[in-house]
Amino acid sequence: MAKITIVYYSAYGHTLDLAKAIEKGAKEAGAETRLRKVKELVPDDVIKGSQGLSAGHALQKDIPEAALGDLEWADGIAFGTPTRFGNTTAQLRNFLDQTGPLWAKGALAGKVAAFFTGASTPHGGHETTILTLSTFAYHHGMLIMPMGYTIKGSGDPYGPTYVSGDGSKPVGEEETRLAYEFGKNLAKTAQKIAGK
Ligand SMILES: Cc1cc2nc3c(=O)[nH]c(=O)nc-3n(C[C@H](O)[C@H](O)[C@H](O)COP(=O)(O)O)c2cc1C
Repeated sequence: MAKITIVYYSAYGHTLDLAKAIEKGAKEAGAETRLRKVKELVPDDVIKGSQGLSAGHALQKDIPEAALGDLEWADGIAFGTPTRFGNTTAQLRNFLDQTGPLWAKGALAGKVAAFFTGASTPHGGHETTILTLSTFAYHHGMLIMPMGYTIKGSGDPYGPTYVSGDGSKPVGEEETRLAYEFGKNLAKTAQKIAGK
């Protein structure tokens, strides 16, 4: 059985939905999973002052915070973040920037890495976010698993994505299906690579 960690940041809940779909797919393929949010960096008073942020945080109150051990434990890791100005959020980057000790001992080398993201507009930076985020995996010697066009209907070769519009639009059925199928593929690939 492969071990899959899904580590993500989500302010309003869309990236969380994609993370859950990936986890569901990985479980369906027989994997043991860990769903982990990264530490929030937005000050409490800012969150309290925003209905959207408060609602997004309430959705995630029971999800454990990621620790370095969750990365070491896994055979495959999916990293997810909303797009911020065409790039990764500071929250996910903050967590990744703490992985120096893992890098120093090569703890993530040979593990499978995958990426997912979303943005408010269809061309708002999905590809730049995943490509710039993925340099992390190169430096750790991880094996990057893109989505390609391996799943029928996929137009997201870099990894699963969503378009959130003005924020009121939930992650779509098709976006969810692609993330779910991708989760299955991630589990199967990680299992093969780990020789399980
Ligand atoms: C500071 C900031 C920068 C953003 N930059 C972009 C962007 O470059 N392109 C875009 O389409 N959406 C952008 N967005 C919208 C977010 O990507 C969108 O709110 C997010 O994907 C929703 O995900 P979540 O529900 O998981 O938080 C930005 C939002 C914020 C708050």
